[in-house]
Amino acid sequence: METVATLVKVTLPSYLANLTIPTSVDELASISGPDWVQLIIFMLTIAIIFYSLIRLFHPSVDKGPKGKGHPINPSIRKECPKVVDVLDVEDLNKEKVSYCRCWKSKKFPLCDGSHNAHNEETGDNVGPVVIRKKIN
Ligand code: FES
Repeated sequence: METVATLVKVTLPSYLANLTIPTSVDELASISGPDWVQLIIFMLTIAIIFYSLIRLFHPSVDKGPKGKGHPINPSIRKECPKVVDVLDVEDLNKEKVSYCRCWKSKKFPLCDGSHNAHNEETGDNVGPVVIRKKIN
């Protein structure tokens, strides 16, 4: 604790007091090489702290369970590295079939209308892909 107190009360104020911060364009042009390095390191530190705070608190930077971002698929066939369904149009025995694109259907890959609750809950606008077949 004492180390942190010394850092905040002594080291940081001393560092900031010795930092060359130009107040005009003329002063900017007259800064020496070592002062430029010190100023750039200071500005990078501030930028990294600011960026880290935004990453930490901004809702769009939500992390999924593996820390790679928020997954679209919450529960369907998670044991598979990739969920792929193939449809042969010749096998389509109905006039139309709806395939889920929201990953919420209990009958996945078919749509069961769960997208309506999802849209209501989140303000999203997802819906199925509908494949129609002309039956003569
Ligand atoms: S249930 Fe997913 S698109 Fe309809």
